[in-house]
Amino acid sequence: MHLKEKLENRQARIGVIGLGYVGLPLAVEFARAGFDVTGFDVDESKVSELNAGRSYILDVRSEDVANCVNAGKLRATTEMSKLGEMDAVDICVPTPLRKTKDPDMSYVVSAAEQIARYLHPGMLIVLESTTYPGTTAEVLQPMFEARGLTVGKDFYLAFSPERVDPANEKFNTRNTPKVVGGTTPVCSDVAAALYSAAVDTVVPVSSTQVAEMVKLLENTFRAVNIGLVNEIALMSHRMNIDVWEVIDAAKTKPFGFMPFYPGPGLGGHCIPIDPFYLSWKAKQSGFECRFIELAGHVNGSMPEYVVERISEALNTKKKAINGARIHLFGIAYKKDVSDMRESPALDILQLLHRRGAELSYTDPYVPSLQEGEVCLQSIAEDAVDGIDCAVIATDHKGFNYAAMPGRFPLVVDTRNALKGNAATNIFRL
Ligand SMILES: NC(=O)c1ccc[n+]([C@@H]2O[C@H](COP(=O)([O-])OP(=O)(O)OC[C@H]3O[C@@H](n4cnc5c(N)ncnc54)[C@H](O)[C@@H]3O)[C@@H](O)[C@H]2O)c1
Repeated sequence: MHLKEKLENRQARIGVIGLGYVGLPLAVEFARAGFDVTGFDVDESKVSELNAGRSYILDVRSEDVANCVNAGKLRATTEMSKLGEMDAVDICVPTPLRKTKDPDMSYVVSAAEQIARYLHPGMLIVLESTTYPGTTAEVLQPMFEARGLTVGKDFYLAFSPERVDPANEKFNTRNTPKVVGGTTPVCSDVAAALYSAAVDTVVPVSSTQVAEMVKLLENTFRAVNIGLVNEIALMSHRMNIDVWEVIDAAKTKPFGFMPFYPGPGLGGHCIPIDPFYLSWKAKQSGFECRFIELAGHVNGSMPEYVVERISEALNTKKKAINGARIHLFGIAYKKDVSDMRESPALDILQLLHRRGAELSYTDPYVPSLQEGEVCLQSIAEDAVDGIDCAVIATDHKGFNYAAMPGRFPLVVDTRNALKGNAATNIFRL
């Protein structure tokens, strides 16, 4: 039976490599669509959690994992040889940056090496990890064709960017349209058949390069617009204008404007990283991505600016950062998630530590942290006492924001969580 037919009647066996924020929800969605799904990960703890029917990602309910596992539709393994039993494989491994801001392709290459070992005729491979345009054609295709099989004829290859937005209550894997670009038209067709089974809307594009670029445009769009609004925030502060009031009024325009909000900087595994995949690749064609570099510069300077605001706040009480007891509310990179990768709150902690502050924090999603020399445990919100300055670094739901200006001598609010509160001890961005 041809793979497309197997996909349409749910007889295809699906493998998902990398069971993290992207791979786990995807594996569950395929299993819920009726496929037989095997998740592959090098992390044994994730594999045993999944096999025990437990979710370790906030957006995925343990009940859904358990239902799929108990129905025999979902399992996980560290045993890569099982890839040989798969009809279709999705690659969802990390794509971080090296210290030099060059792409670190080692995870993708290692996953592709494993697939190449077990590649067989009729197999579909889809790369989902965010990466520079050309990765699928220049890195993956030669690795697979070196096995003597021809793409579009003997096996199928495609790129389909993941668009998961952690903690988004409205959009999830199923109802977020999925862009798919194949190496050949047949590859696109087969990959579209895979996703049509589990995702409401599939958006085919003409090539893997276009699909790769779509994701980078989306994330660069966010990085640049956040950079712009952060610069407007710095400018407004200098001009004594409330940037939050400006944005609230500007967003009443029903066309041609989309609100972005200032903050302490970019975080997570996507927005601070992915645009640099694009600028790295563009440089190889002699093209300099000025917007990306500039946005990176402005966004990267925001933790320093927050520390400046903390310093200004303490100054009103004739205090220095050195020796001050400073407490951060929220460490995760955005509200209501536990992910603290690239979180600007960690940069703020480091900067304050170097200046001699005594630090503590509260984050219900992050029980403890180790960042350089800073090693802390989250303390309950009610137990926070005797501090000189509270810093709202992440606006998780559930913090008692209204009480903060009364409880603490100074509050630095980087997220406008205290919107409308006129207390004079609040320092906004
Ligand atoms: N997190 C997001 O919100 C998000 C959104 C869209 C796209 N993405 C992209 O998706 C990709 C994955 O991101 P993530 O956040 O899910 O990462 P993650 O770190 O949460 O998960 C990746 C998983 O891959 C596993 N892994 C690493 N190397 C492996 C290998 N060789 N074989 C098997 N497993 C391996 C890791 O153990 C980990 O469990 C990245 O390219 C990222 O940019 C992430």
